[in-house]
Amino acid sequence: MPKFRVFATCHIGDAAENKLRERGYELEVYPGPEAPPKKLIVEKAASGIDGLITTLRDPIDAEVFEAGKGHLKVVAQIAVGFDNINRADANRYRIPFTHTADVLTEATAEFAFFMMGALARKMWPSELEVRENRWGSWHPFLPFLGDEVTGKTIAVIGTGRIGLAMIKKCVGFDMNILCYDPAYQNHQYIAKIQKLMDQRHQSGIQKEQTSIRYVEFEAALRAADYVSVHVPLLREGESDTPTYHLFNEKTLRTMKPTAYLINTSRGPVVSEQAIYRALKEKWIAGAALDVFEREPLPADSKLRDPEIADRLRLYNHFASAGKIPRLDADPDTGMAGRCAQGLIDVLEGSYGGDISKMPYVVNKEAFQASP
Ligand code: GLV
Repeated sequence: MPKFRVFATCHIGDAAENKLRERGYELEVYPGPEAPPKKLIVEKAASGIDGLITTLRDPIDAEVFEAGKGHLKVVAQIAVGFDNINRADANRYRIPFTHTADVLTEATAEFAFFMMGALARKMWPSELEVRENRWGSWHPFLPFLGDEVTGKTIAVIGTGRIGLAMIKKCVGFDMNILCYDPAYQNHQYIAKIQKLMDQRHQSGIQKEQTSIRYVEFEAALRAADYVSVHVPLLREGESDTPTYHLFNEKTLRTMKPTAYLINTSRGPVVSEQAIYRALKEKWIAGAALDVFEREPLPADSKLRDPEIADRLRLYNHFASAGKIPRLDADPDTGMAGRCAQGLIDVLEGSYGGDISKMPYVVNKEAFQASP
């Protein structure tokens, strides 16, 4: 008899999968790489599994929990974001779900930073000049120029783990930093960053004195040269501070015409229709997007319009995609390891079986003893 039966909607890598098999788990993996149909997830949930491994593209809601009633004990998500999992439904069915925060924080923040540089310094158009043999001669300003990142002002929208890691990287580029977060503000961290900025200036490492502070959303958008988005996707009704279409025609028009938008959070935080207009009509200077309202980006997406290609960089939801952060089987370094460990914790009753104490469980509130 297998110890536990688990269905995974995608591979999480040999190392982490073997770790589960070596513990006597019977693990069935959907071969993918595309997402399994919802119907199949429901069928598998109904088949008597103890655990379900999911990722950000799988819709997990009451239908799945109902099918798993009586035997499904945990959903272990390989991703930090969990907007695909209906938290209220999970709580109603008392199913804990886990995620893989922390291990992808630096990877995601550095990718956001690199996206910003690639966009503003026109690295892709520059490469195309060479690739397509259009590079005529060296010239002081032809065929185009970019904008520097060093010394500019960035608005970091969302100061959770990834936003704070982004801030840390921006300090090294002598940037002024405006922070906005509707739900969570880390004033202690911001004070430490200010101290670091002061030290850099006083010791002569950076020429200009720079600053960091929390401001209102509109003030951040009005003043920033770069706006980097690091909020979770929260739809109307899921939070007092929803983030769905936080970037829309009104808010994009608030940004400076010379400013750039970088999104590594979730696609629906930015209205694609609005960003398309913003780029086409040059309300802003450019955007770099790693996430989209529909993924993969549909073949007929307007975002592929060649007319805006020079000011729009597009990536395949790739920000956390380092080999170690994605695949390492150690829960302290890899999403795969953390996903497997989240599953093990619940199934094997780590932490004395107290789900509210398990570090990777998201919906702890459903398992806390009432006061
Ligand atoms: C990636 O977007 C993640 O949520 O891990």
